[in-house]
Amino acid sequence: MSGDAGTVILDVDRLEKHYGGVHAVDGVSFTVERGSITGLIGPNGAGKSTALAVIGGYVSPTAGRIHFDGADITGYPMHARARVGLVRTFQMARVFGNLTTIENLLVAVPRQRGESAAGILAGKWFWRGEERQLVERARALLDTFGMSTKADDPARTLSGGQKRAVEIMRALMMKPKLLLLDEPMAGLSPSLSRQLEDMLIRLAGDGLSLLLVEHELDTVDRLCGKVVVMAQGRVLSEGRMAELRLSREVQDAYVIG
Ligand SMILES: Nc1ncnc2c1ncn2[C@@H]1O[C@H](COP(=O)(O)OP(=O)(O)OP(=O)(O)O)[C@@H](O)[C@H]1O
Ligand SMILES: [Mg+2]
Repeated sequence: MSGDAGTVILDVDRLEKHYGGVHAVDGVSFTVERGSITGLIGPNGAGKSTALAVIGGYVSPTAGRIHFDGADITGYPMHARARVGLVRTFQMARVFGNLTTIENLLVAVPRQRGESAAGILAGKWFWRGEERQLVERARALLDTFGMSTKADDPARTLSGGQKRAVEIMRALMMKPKLLLLDEPMAGLSPSLSRQLEDMLIRLAGDGLSLLLVEHELDTVDRLCGKVVVMAQGRVLSEGRMAELRLSREVQDAYVIG
């Protein structure tokens, strides 16, 4: 755990995202503390994925500010956010099926020498310092996730859970300080979900901060300290899951949703 634990890494201030008349995110404010796993929950259509997409720089906000690690990053494009340590994964796992598992990790990192993904596909590797370090980092991650034996298999042969792991490892290749996860357990078997939960707890223990959108409230209960509840584009409530379960307002939002 870093010495900065307990301080704020992400500060979302009155964030709004409108699509025409739809206020998908409608004045959302909350913070994420360093080294914490913060939950973002709420019924379908509450605006969770949109909020995550705006924080990750995938879509631009209609209004509001985002501070990350002490800087106002509201205007930063996605790659600039990744460079300062803010990385998101997507609600659906995306892998390049024809690339091997390790290649899927290596293509995640933007090349400084302008080496293209096409070059990698063609097997044109340049085994210089930068590449070697990336390969070492990828191998270490595969080892951590128990997937070393899959390194050279085409990603299309991986199971759903393994593809999900690839998606997360790919994000970790960028050495994030804060990882935004949109329903990482979706579609996984209960036992794979538990393995992924354990992995996320270990990552947080190593100082990584996580903002996790998750439907399964028992998972949220096990993983998250603070939980932010959204409904209809707004923050309805925040607190620990055990307290939120007792809240009439939160119960109603889930029934209505
Ligand atoms: N690109 C878009 N264009 C128009 N409306 C959108 C767009 N993206 C999201 N919305 C709308 O914004 C609202 C919030 O959607 P969002 O996907 O953020 O919800 P969510 O909380 O992630 O839901 P779920 O739990 O189903 O994933 C919904 O009403 C949705 O239809
Ligand atoms: Mg969503």
